[in-house]
Amino acid sequence: MRIHARPTGGRRIPGDRTPAVVRRLRKSLGFGAPLLAGLLFAAAPAAAQSEHATTLDGVYTAEQAEAGRATYQKVCSGCHTLDWYTGDVVRAWEGGSLFALYEVISTTMPQDNPGSLKRRDYADLLAYILELNGLPAGETPLSTRRSRLNAIRFQFKENR
Ligand code: HEC
Repeated sequence: MRIHARPTGGRRIPGDRTPAVVRRLRKSLGFGAPLLAGLLFAAAPAAAQSEHATTLDGVYTAEQAEAGRATYQKVCSGCHTLDWYTGDVVRAWEGGSLFALYEVISTTMPQDNPGSLKRRDYADLLAYILELNGLPAGETPLSTRRSRLNAIRFQFKENR
């Protein structure tokens, strides 16, 4: 069984203790606490939104999927049929971050030569797998960076 750790985003929300910098600001500017709290947390919703992106949001480009198709034909098709990529083994990754699937592909596949492709090739393959599953393409290419992939949840259009 795999446990997918949720990304924390690295942002620490201050607890109930008022940070010294806020106390100083409050003193020098005469702001009330609620107004200051509002100012401090104004940036939070945007950050939270990007952390909850899913594969329904158009997280790869059509060009990437096309490149992934070529790599699939060259490297993966000997062992996996196209049907297999929309089947239960791949679907089992739903709910995890896209990084989890990226990592398993990029470190264990192709099974006869694991990790032999470029990071970009693995991202393209992942884009192709998303396309095969009917998930939408978008404007921004799928990144190879762990933090970016971690911020995208693997989710399918319809539940079976
Ligand atoms: C030499 C044969 C072989 C090649 C080539 C190969 N695979 Fe696999 N792959 C396997 C086997 C065997 C499994 C385990 C099958 C299963 O769980 O149903 C597997 C599993 C996987 C999984 C599921 C991993 C998991 O643990 O859930 C993915 C995704 C995958 N392969 C993608 C790829 C991609 C992408 C390529 C091309 C870069 C590729 N494979 C090339 C044999 C291969």
